[in-house]
Amino acid sequence: MSWPDVPAGRHHLGILGGGQLGRMLIAEARVLDLRVAVLDPDPEAPCASLADRFWCGGLDDPSAIARLVDECAVTTWEIEHINVDAVAGRVERGAVVRPDPNVLRIVQDKAAQRRRFSEAGLPGPRWCEFSPEGDAHLQEALLIAFGLPAVQKLRRGGYDGRGVTTLRAADTPRLPGPSILEELVEIEYELAVLVARALDGSTVCYDPVQMRFDPVRNICTHVIAAPSELSPVAPEIAREARRIAEAAVTALDGVGIFGVELFVEKGSPGRVLLNEVAPRPHNSGHYTIDACATSQFAQHLRAVLGLPLGSPEIFCPAVMVNLLGEGKPGPVAVDGLDRALSLPGVTVHLYGKRRSAPGRKMGHLTAIGATVAEALDRADRAAGCIQIHGAPSPEGGHRG
Ligand SMILES: Nc1ncnc2c1ncn2[C@@H]1O[C@H](COP(=O)(O)OP(=O)(O)OP(=O)(O)O)[C@@H](O)[C@H]1O
Ligand SMILES: [Mg+2]
Repeated sequence: MSWPDVPAGRHHLGILGGGQLGRMLIAEARVLDLRVAVLDPDPEAPCASLADRFWCGGLDDPSAIARLVDECAVTTWEIEHINVDAVAGRVERGAVVRPDPNVLRIVQDKAAQRRRFSEAGLPGPRWCEFSPEGDAHLQEALLIAFGLPAVQKLRRGGYDGRGVTTLRAADTPRLPGPSILEELVEIEYELAVLVARALDGSTVCYDPVQMRFDPVRNICTHVIAAPSELSPVAPEIAREARRIAEAAVTALDGVGIFGVELFVEKGSPGRVLLNEVAPRPHNSGHYTIDACATSQFAQHLRAVLGLPLGSPEIFCPAVMVNLLGEGKPGPVAVDGLDRALSLPGVTVHLYGKRRSAPGRKMGHLTAIGATVAEALDRADRAAGCIQIHGAPSPEGGHRG
């Protein structure tokens, strides 16, 4: 094949969404000398200053989507909240979008996603559809039959735990809108598995990683990754997690990289249950940039561009910590970067967001080490050095 074989004026890759996932994808696209165009409604999105072409426009706007998709050889997305009908319309007219928009149509709706995985025989929490605003008697009867406690999830639009609530008693306030109910799993710990799937249906699977969450904000704080012999994930759990993750991505007929979220239930042996699939690079896979033969972003590019998949090998234990905005909202200021970078094995990734807000993902750091304990210690010490917050000055910028 001749490579790159895209005419001048067109872009090799289009990305719907211009957040940090797109930014890290562009960084990998640069390595392959690819031209990238991006669409995002925020003129200051993390991709705005890095893309070869940045279109400011709505991800729900059919004409903005058409403009991007039509000037790119292949288009992908880095966020699920986009107008899937508009994307599918372009595909019908010959545009190339990977994964296929039908994957997004299923994943955008938690009921459709659960149904697809149940049909594929994959283990997950017991679930049913639930509409708190439908026929009140019917819904109450349904809730009683299902049993409490239960987890209510809005079918659409949730992220970072928004749109998820636990109903412990009959009078617990419910989320408004079409939903699903799930049994409340007693979780020992949460896992994620990255799966890349190529155009020919072949897959490569990264080692399962442990995700730790802030119980109040429901945001992932730590990801712990290690070669299997050093991993905190027991071999039989890891084997089952990989089996489920690969089957889930195959059941979606996905192409690209997928972040598969799983629960390990308390008890022995605890069941491994499928939670959900993110059809894009995933927060749990950021460590691959610094610790693996092929990063999740390079892997996604390879898959959607029809190139051979790379090795998912992890070289050493690695711990990723999300760097969240603290204090007041305002123009971004980063304190303590020098102290964090003075620690061995630590890499800091800043997303270029112009404004900090409490709890907003502003960057992440990865620490590698000879053991998980060493990587964890370095990661926590580095994270303790860095503060990202809103600065009073309108310019913002890095300090110290
Ligand atoms: N059935 C369940 N039983 C127990 N805990 C659950 C259940 N479903 C979800 N949770 C908890 O809630 C968190 C968020 O759930 P989920 O991943 O479905 O929501 P989301 O908002 O779409 O996800 P994300 O945080 O990945 O954007 C999970 O990581 C887990 O900690
Ligand atoms: Mg989730």
